[in-house]
Amino acid sequence: MNFSDSEIVASVMTDNQYVTTEDHQLADVIFLNTCSIRDNAEQKVMNRLKQLQHLRKKKPGLIIGVLGCMAERLKSSLLEENELGMRVDMVVGPDAYRDLPQLMLDAENGHKAINIILSAEETYADITPVRYASNGVSAFISIMRGCENFCSYCVVPFTRGKERSRDPQTIVGEARELFEAGYREISLLGQNVNSYRWENEESGLVTGFPELIEMMAKVNPLLRLRFATSHPKDMSDQLLQVIASNPNICKAIHLPMQSGSTSVLKRMNRKYTRQDYQNRIEAIRRIIPGCAISTDIIAGFCGETPQEHNQTLEMMEWAAFDFAFMFKYSEREGTLAAKKYTDDIPEEVKSSRLQEIIKLQQKLSLKSNKKDVGTVVEVLVEGPSKRSPDFVSGRSSHNKVVVFPGKGYKPGDYVMVKVTSCTAATLLGDAIDD
Ligand code: 5AD
Ligand code: SF4
Repeated sequence: MNFSDSEIVASVMTDNQYVTTEDHQLADVIFLNTCSIRDNAEQKVMNRLKQLQHLRKKKPGLIIGVLGCMAERLKSSLLEENELGMRVDMVVGPDAYRDLPQLMLDAENGHKAINIILSAEETYADITPVRYASNGVSAFISIMRGCENFCSYCVVPFTRGKERSRDPQTIVGEARELFEAGYREISLLGQNVNSYRWENEESGLVTGFPELIEMMAKVNPLLRLRFATSHPKDMSDQLLQVIASNPNICKAIHLPMQSGSTSVLKRMNRKYTRQDYQNRIEAIRRIIPGCAISTDIIAGFCGETPQEHNQTLEMMEWAAFDFAFMFKYSEREGTLAAKKYTDDIPEEVKSSRLQEIIKLQQKLSLKSNKKDVGTVVEVLVEGPSKRSPDFVSGRSSHNKVVVFPGKGYKPGDYVMVKVTSCTAATLLGDAIDD
């Protein structure tokens, strides 16, 4: 989401005669687009700011701005010099990027430049993102912003504000433009894409996520679609049927589980039980046989007992996830969990539980990849492989990285590849068509 937002920022800035540079030493203005989801994300930004203070000494007119969730969370405190000797010139929340040119003028004139107003409507629907740092094949389209689920551990509803969806016509229009520019894969983004909802003011017609993704699938059969992320409570059979019946909607679903224990899920305010989650997995397997399923897991949430942790491990085995993002619980100020529960799992216990989860997932990922050995998968080529220029790398519909000998394939080509071997992270194979 931040990557996609940075493309909006670049668009607003280039429309106002600024240009981007690859080399931060040459920049007159540096924006850090920041994440607050866990403490270590914020620590990385703080370290980067510390490094940039040296640059400021060499270049007195340099303007440094903090954008995104940390701007929203830490507000004007970022404008004051803190104990680490850091100070920034601009603080801009995720709904204020249209105001950047005005804020630039304020900062250039030595005034405090801050806008952290959250909006109930802003979707940047009319701004065409500048696709910088892209591989020219895959692009993101943000379809909704904000979140009102208030999972107890999560800072996002506080930093990104109310949930709002973007006009479907602008989304389809952006997809068409991307296809014409050579892009072949679009990831639809939102904190919870399943609650996408747009009501046409004139006709009263409501477009939900299943209708939206079906419209997008019709843009061109050669345009692949992915989406992230889905809240299990809102993952409908209707959506699964749309995925099953459109070959260009990738057969890979990211369905964050967070925990396999009903009591932990309750404390997390996730609004589903272990059984509800199992029902959703069963529905995916029934309606889209062979669909890849990935997840997010948090280790060591407040009050997590060894039994509750074991239930997470059991559920991982049961669901046989193809891939997972796994984290240690990190308490965020102001969240429901910070107010209601004690962050009582010792750091070493959190670490050892996370290690167990990671180890199990490595086993499951390897098992999932081994299942593909001997099969033929359709790969969308993204570019040369990192390991050798003679190989190209791309992704299967299941979102697995596939590496195979090049033979002149270009980014954007679709190639049928027979999988011959694998690691836990990659499939290796040979093209079977020329
Ligand atoms: N601590 C640890 N992980 C978190 N996530 C969100 N908030 C926290 C937190 N406070 C994880 C969840 C979410 C993913 C994007 O980040 O697993 O799905
Ligand atoms: Fe955070 Fe929950 Fe919203 Fe996801 S659904 S952004 S975890 S509050």
